[in-house]
Amino acid sequence: MRPLPTHLLPDSAEVVDGVLHIGGCNVLDLATEFGTPAFFYDEQHLRDRCREAVAAFGPGVAYATKAFLCAAMAKLAYEEGMHLDVATGGELHVALAAGVPADRLVLHGNNKSSAELRMGIEAGVHRIVVDSFDELDRLDQIHAETGLTPKVLLRLTPGIKAETHDYISTGQDDSKFGFGVSSGAAELAIDRARSAVSVDLVGIHAHIGSQVFAVGSLGRAAGVIGEIARSHEFEELSVGGGLGVPYVEDERAPTISEWGRVVREACAEAGVSARITAEPGRSIAAAAAITVYTVGTIKDLPGIRTYVAVDGGMSDNPRPVLYGSGYETFLPRAVGADRTKPVTVVGKHCESGDLLVRDGLVPPDIAVGDVLATPVTGAYGHSMGSNYNMVLRPPVVFVRDGEARLVVRRQTFDDLSRFDT
Ligand code: LLP
Repeated sequence: MRPLPTHLLPDSAEVVDGVLHIGGCNVLDLATEFGTPAFFYDEQHLRDRCREAVAAFGPGVAYATKAFLCAAMAKLAYEEGMHLDVATGGELHVALAAGVPADRLVLHGNNKSSAELRMGIEAGVHRIVVDSFDELDRLDQIHAETGLTPKVLLRLTPGIKAETHDYISTGQDDSKFGFGVSSGAAELAIDRARSAVSVDLVGIHAHIGSQVFAVGSLGRAAGVIGEIARSHEFEELSVGGGLGVPYVEDERAPTISEWGRVVREACAEAGVSARITAEPGRSIAAAAAITVYTVGTIKDLPGIRTYVAVDGGMSDNPRPVLYGSGYETFLPRAVGADRTKPVTVVGKHCESGDLLVRDGLVPPDIAVGDVLATPVTGAYGHSMGSNYNMVLRPPVVFVRDGEARLVVRRQTFDDLSRFDT
């Protein structure tokens, strides 16, 4: 009767006397030591996915920091040989502050300000991925002021709709991102950037969306821009990120290595000789973490549903509310137990949309005080968290070889008043 599917747990997950251990640490002990809610990351899982990405795409492959960023994560991706994709001045700042050299950073963003561009150019970032004609204007201006000439890629929109949620689909013609291929904007941008003194155009980029299971679509997009890279003899081609991960029982996703193979094949077919690179985020970080909560209230509404309320919610994982995303849930004290009780796991925020797991299953003996977990929360959870209702943002703990280290501390009430003047 449907115990938690273990392929959703971090690589190092083991069950000892029924209890979940990650990175050699007992999850119930971690919950006691660090409190709840908390994000527990399997550090070796993160490292292994970074290594897999480097093996699949080569050393220029960039970790998309929007998926999950803190100093420890920036350092880890750097140590494992990755570049880092930063999409705002804030992400750029955190990566630099973590000690990642600027020449390992790729600066993204559909609406970079002059200040953000200058910050990146003056730091000496590896690449700027240019997204609009207005940005090319700003780069002209910065060159006139500083004499600096950054190496850039142009972000193209290949006109391919990824099979994913509309909010995170970016490759279709109707998109705020990039220069459209079918409208002719891409060719105009290439001509302009080629002849500009303000930038050194080394290649092109496309990212068609996120949480994509069909590597065929990712391959097709690579083929479309591969063709353009070949005809212009560009030296570099980035296929963005987007590889999906399974969140719930029946989902399966290709591995990073399989994605790399499909992209390489599509590029080889298009006769591309450019260096091919990519920017995975979710596929590096998502399955590395679980979020652990404490059950505070259980309401059985006869004939309707059972609400299980925990001490976090949409402030530590807004994905169910934003995208209707599904998650599994389980009790770390009884990982292999049959989950026969249907429940809806909700948070502590003051709105009915505050759902973490819409149709979850838990063991029938679930009780107030139980530690409850949701797996696959390592990407776009902590990074999209908020202080809604002035709920404190949870800590992040890395576990490996029986050791746990706190890498982001829990917020305090004093943190909440820090910005008031
Ligand atoms: N490169 C670019 C230019 C991107 O915009 C993104 C994601 C990535 C790489 C990394 O994509 P990944 O490998 O993580 O799919 N908040 C949403 C996801 C937004 C993705 C935004 N861009 C979610 O929680 O599903």
